[in-house]
Amino acid sequence: MCGIVGYIGKKQAAPILLDGLSKLEYRGYDSAGMAVFDGENIKIEKTPGRLKVLEETTHGGELMPGMIGIGHTRWATHGVPSTENAHPHFNASRSIAVVHNGIIENYIKLKEKMIKRGYKFVSDTDTEVLAHMLDYYYKGDPVEAIIKVMHRVEGSYALGIIFTDCPDDVFAVRKDSPLVIGKGEGENFIASDVPAILKYTRNVYYIQNEEIAKIGTDKIEFFNIDAEPIEKELHRVEWDMNAAEKGGYEFFMMKEMMEQPKVIRDTFTPHIKNNEIVFDELKDADIDFSKLTSLHIVACGSAYHAGFTGKYVIEKMARVPVYVDLASEFRYRNPILGEGDVVVLISQSGETADTKAAIGEAKAKGAKTIAIVNAKGSSMTREADYTIYTEAGPEISVATTKAYSAQLIILYMLAIKLAEEKGTLKEDEKKQLISDLLRLPEQVEMVLNNKERIQKFANRYIAAKDIFFIGRGIDYAIAIEGALKLKEISYIHAEAYAAGELKHGTISLIEENTLVNAVLTQEDLYDKTISNIREVKSRGAFVMAVTNLGHTKIEEVADYVVYIPETNKYFTNTLAIIPLQLFGYFVSAGKGYDVDHPRNLAKSVTVE
Ligand code: AGP
Repeated sequence: MCGIVGYIGKKQAAPILLDGLSKLEYRGYDSAGMAVFDGENIKIEKTPGRLKVLEETTHGGELMPGMIGIGHTRWATHGVPSTENAHPHFNASRSIAVVHNGIIENYIKLKEKMIKRGYKFVSDTDTEVLAHMLDYYYKGDPVEAIIKVMHRVEGSYALGIIFTDCPDDVFAVRKDSPLVIGKGEGENFIASDVPAILKYTRNVYYIQNEEIAKIGTDKIEFFNIDAEPIEKELHRVEWDMNAAEKGGYEFFMMKEMMEQPKVIRDTFTPHIKNNEIVFDELKDADIDFSKLTSLHIVACGSAYHAGFTGKYVIEKMARVPVYVDLASEFRYRNPILGEGDVVVLISQSGETADTKAAIGEAKAKGAKTIAIVNAKGSSMTREADYTIYTEAGPEISVATTKAYSAQLIILYMLAIKLAEEKGTLKEDEKKQLISDLLRLPEQVEMVLNNKERIQKFANRYIAAKDIFFIGRGIDYAIAIEGALKLKEISYIHAEAYAAGELKHGTISLIEENTLVNAVLTQEDLYDKTISNIREVKSRGAFVMAVTNLGHTKIEEVADYVVYIPETNKYFTNTLAIIPLQLFGYFVSAGKGYDVDHPRNLAKSVTVE
């Protein structure tokens, strides 16, 4: 998604804007630009392509002197990637410049109105209409003009705005798109995400929906949409800089995969006290879990895959029906929900448009909403009734790994808690589950230590065209995530199938040497999946199997076996997904791709 950075202080703004934008590249973009006020005029530079092009065009910012500015990386929604469509956008006299992340849903109507008022448009974007509306409503008070625009605009926006008439302030506004305000010493910042400003300050304000910030060198003021001043709490970001840097790995994805043992430990630790599972976030919840007759889980992408695993684990443990929905389907399906229903929404970024909208849909029907989110202070944490944080730290690589693993841990613990409430879990079973949970970090470490072997295997499939992933039950939930990991970063067509489903059509796609990755971690389903392996083998497939240590029977049918340590049958996804993450990574890296920035993808899909 688009990235925004703004600066005001005593240093040259442009180099700081470029540095901040470089920390937001992970959000995915296709063009970049900056606007810097030099005391007299606003100079604007915009270029399609990578940020490097803008850096070169502006000589690292030297050609844009000034100590107040705004910068932007654009992920095209309206209008192709081009210089004209890149941000910042500005009014005809260039006295106002604006950068925007989000979508102005009624921009066509607003554009027609501005054209009737004599305004000329130079781009195909929705954002440009904001620049002309600010021009139209500006009569000397920027906050008043901004508020008038806010009242007329529908959609989502995080804005950075500068006015030549107001050389001492940068203005920031948000509605639904992420934005933070950084408070420095004699300098202040705005950014779409914390990594952009962590180098300069750890002190941030999380601006809320429909709030305006007026940011000077030494003063930050906040106003609500009624122009009333409001007080905001200053937060301190504890992430260390390394957490937002690569730490010596070639790609963030490898760094983040290697962090999974720590992330799993950091995620379960706050919830295990005196050998009990606790969710303080839910202790005052207006939910009687013992009376819960069903549970809904809603998410997108890998978060949906985590929820899919959650379905199997919660249903097996707590014997409560779990309905898992893609957020983009749920929000338009007029879901059958009411008082007493509980909807769990899972999101790493906490900003995914469809998942956010699902919160509103669920609440409108009277359901209680629990968000499982990684990004602190993100929109979903303010919109859901209750929030449980995963502790994965900043996840930079577009392909999620550690956040997905952390989501699984929260779902395992929710399953245990719910089973306790429903009386379906004996005390000794619970203690065994907690003991098995505590061992997962070291077991993940063991699988990760096997990565060179996976790399050798992956190198054989760099030229592959089609790869299949199969499994039954929880193994199917593992397979769907393994397929997504591979396809989103290697661009190889990969599909996951419930192993029992192959014979209903898909098996016709299996040819000589087609790779089929089979997952077999569920004792009661081994033999069934082994039969499916025989089916694909008899049609020429090459089979790689991921299975539990000791299950050597698999070597009678599979061509290549990856063993994972024995763990609780409910937790096997946490271990089995590791070789599949590594497989996708090494195929992508082996193809020479930018693993962290896959084409067409963004880290957080903040638009529909
Ligand atoms: C997963 O590797 C992808 N990056 C994508 O499917 C992602 O899981 C999905 O967009 C949901 O994002 P969220 O967890 O931030 O809501």
